[in-house]
Amino acid sequence: MRVLLAGGAGYIGAHTAVALLESGHEVVLLDDLSGTQAVAAERVETITGKAAPLVVGNAADDEVVEAVFAEHGPIDAIVHLAAFKAVGESTQKPLDYYANNLDSTFALLRVGLAHGIRSFVFSSTGTVYSDPADLPFTEDSTTSVDLSNPYSKSKRMNEVILADVARVNPDVNVTILRYFNPVGAHPSGLIGEDPTGIPNNLMPYVSRVAIGTLDRIGVFGDDYDTPDGTGLRDYIHVVDLAEGHVVALEQAQPGLAVYNLGTGVPVSVLQLIASFEAAVGRELPKEFLPRRAGDVAATYCDPAKAAAELGWRTRLTIDDASRDYWNWQSRNPRGYSA
Ligand code: UFG
Repeated sequence: MRVLLAGGAGYIGAHTAVALLESGHEVVLLDDLSGTQAVAAERVETITGKAAPLVVGNAADDEVVEAVFAEHGPIDAIVHLAAFKAVGESTQKPLDYYANNLDSTFALLRVGLAHGIRSFVFSSTGTVYSDPADLPFTEDSTTSVDLSNPYSKSKRMNEVILADVARVNPDVNVTILRYFNPVGAHPSGLIGEDPTGIPNNLMPYVSRVAIGTLDRIGVFGDDYDTPDGTGLRDYIHVVDLAEGHVVALEQAQPGLAVYNLGTGVPVSVLQLIASFEAAVGRELPKEFLPRRAGDVAATYCDPAKAAAELGWRTRLTIDDASRDYWNWQSRNPRGYSA
């Protein structure tokens, strides 16, 4: 099938493009390059030896999306990964986050449905689950729209909207993928995560310390009710995550479906740092800091539904992710910037 990947030059988008091309599908990437660079699309072509045309434009603009369909149609499916994603920034710029993260969905759906797309896959987050008593989270765990930051709220709002759209378009496959914590990079070292400025997330921060552009890792809290006192997360290798999009598209049935994409294995902050240190081959400077506002002690999923219905399981471990992230970072010390 031919798939429009909105946000296709980003971290998850580029890996998903590779996975789709390697499974015999065609892709068109739409990206405004606000969080990545065009070279990512060229590297997708280098890895796969296949075409990954990039349209530079905003997925929240109906005319831009129309132009993609006019130039690259017919398109069978849309994978929507085009969103602002910095949690802290979202609390400072709520209007920007709500506008961008909702308008993109509206434009892609309006234009895509008018052109008869069969499938719409939406990139959501495991942070929509709101009750820690439900751990590990299943797709039936309690969700809320009253979450700690506008980024997460915008994702849950999108889910609510998509359920209504699916109801009145019963022939369309609408799939919501709730990601846990994406980490790692393609084993080629050609594509990976390239955060702007100082990274918010743990593995990119640790990697910047390892490459020498940041001084030391700050561990946010050592007094959580967890085995080593640091936060527990479900870190999923981005290559496994990308594969989840391929099976979601290939196996999608008409109607709405929701899947957790995670490993089901909780890993602590200190365990992730130790794994990365093993990949780098030396200890990294670190210090304990107070808890970060808005953080929860633990979040991890039960991935059984995706296994049962899609036959999808993660294959890669946190050590694979550390090795591949470090390979990407050491080959590209400044990310995609030459
Ligand atoms: N952490 C540190 N030091 C850092 C960064 C993070 O100790 O420099 C800790 C956090 O306290 C947490 C764990 O590492 O225990 C993971 O933090 P991340 O920032 O990597 O990931 P989060 O679980 O906070 O973020 C996830 C997703 C985001 C999403 C967010 C919503 O990765 O995409 O939840 O709250 F936006």
